[in-house]
Amino acid sequence: MAKGHQGKTALITGAASGLGQAFAKRLAEDGVDIAAVDLNDASATVKMVKAAGRSAVSFTCDVSSPDSVEKMAAEARKAFPKIDIVVNCAGIFPQVPLENVTYAEWRRIVGTNLDGTFLVSMAFVPGMKARGWGRIVTLSSSTVGAVVTGFVPYVASKLGIVGFTRALASELGPFGITVNAIQPGLTKTPGATGRPPRAGFATMDDEFNDVAQKFQAIKRIETPDDLAGAVSFLTSDDSAFITGQTLAVDGGRVRL
Ligand SMILES: NC(=O)c1ccc[n+]([C@@H]2O[C@H](COP(=O)([O-])OP(=O)(O)OC[C@H]3O[C@@H](n4cnc5c(N)ncnc54)[C@H](O)[C@@H]3O)[C@@H](O)[C@H]2O)c1
Repeated sequence: MAKGHQGKTALITGAASGLGQAFAKRLAEDGVDIAAVDLNDASATVKMVKAAGRSAVSFTCDVSSPDSVEKMAAEARKAFPKIDIVVNCAGIFPQVPLENVTYAEWRRIVGTNLDGTFLVSMAFVPGMKARGWGRIVTLSSSTVGAVVTGFVPYVASKLGIVGFTRALASELGPFGITVNAIQPGLTKTPGATGRPPRAGFATMDDEFNDVAQKFQAIKRIETPDDLAGAVSFLTSDDSAFITGQTLAVDGGRVRL
């Protein structure tokens, strides 16, 4: 178990599903209380956290909306005396042919993934600074280093998150706060399996298997649990001297 988790609280966005839910479960097992934030009902995640013996409260929030984030942050601060850890998992990844990438579609994707990461992280920086300890984790994607089509706004948002992570780390290093990105490969979550397979694949399972076999050194399909250890480490005391970095957790698909 990583050091320094006991008595901490983590706020996780996108906590109703996929990676956010797996991270909530893992951090709860590590001894962390959880504020579960999502557009959708996160009560299943709250149940998982409580089953692991920790406190959990869910908050409905649209991370792309400054007003919604401000309201959620005020409620979260009331429910928990301190938010020590922020994990930004809320994200959308629609595959949109370039000719359909309107400005509205660009704003929807960049607004959720990049603006949302900015708004939620910044809401909890003052408290972390005052206490001299904090961990912020962001979610990039292996698509930023791969040949994929239909993901222009998505890849821009996910590399924007890397830039945000690096620059914020420089600001917050003197205050005991680290900021790091995790870069997953194609991972079997409700969000990834719920969309139609890319051109050339009959099912999502075919697409998952093709990526695992052709592009990864480790030839099996990535699952949320493959990423949970990285989140545990990057939010602990064991990673106190690591900041501004991007950790690829993708079976060896992309080398940074
Ligand atoms: N699954 C993958 O293959 C993969 C690969 C690389 C990166 N990622 C990134 O990991 C993160 C989590 O993805 P996932 O696969 O678990 O997806 P998911 O769809 O299973 O979960 C995402 C969650 O985010 C929530 N959400 C979406 N928009 C929101 C908003 N505006 N405000 C609040 N919540 C919102 C959804 O309701 C959902 O519960 C995303 O940022 C995604 O880009 C996923």
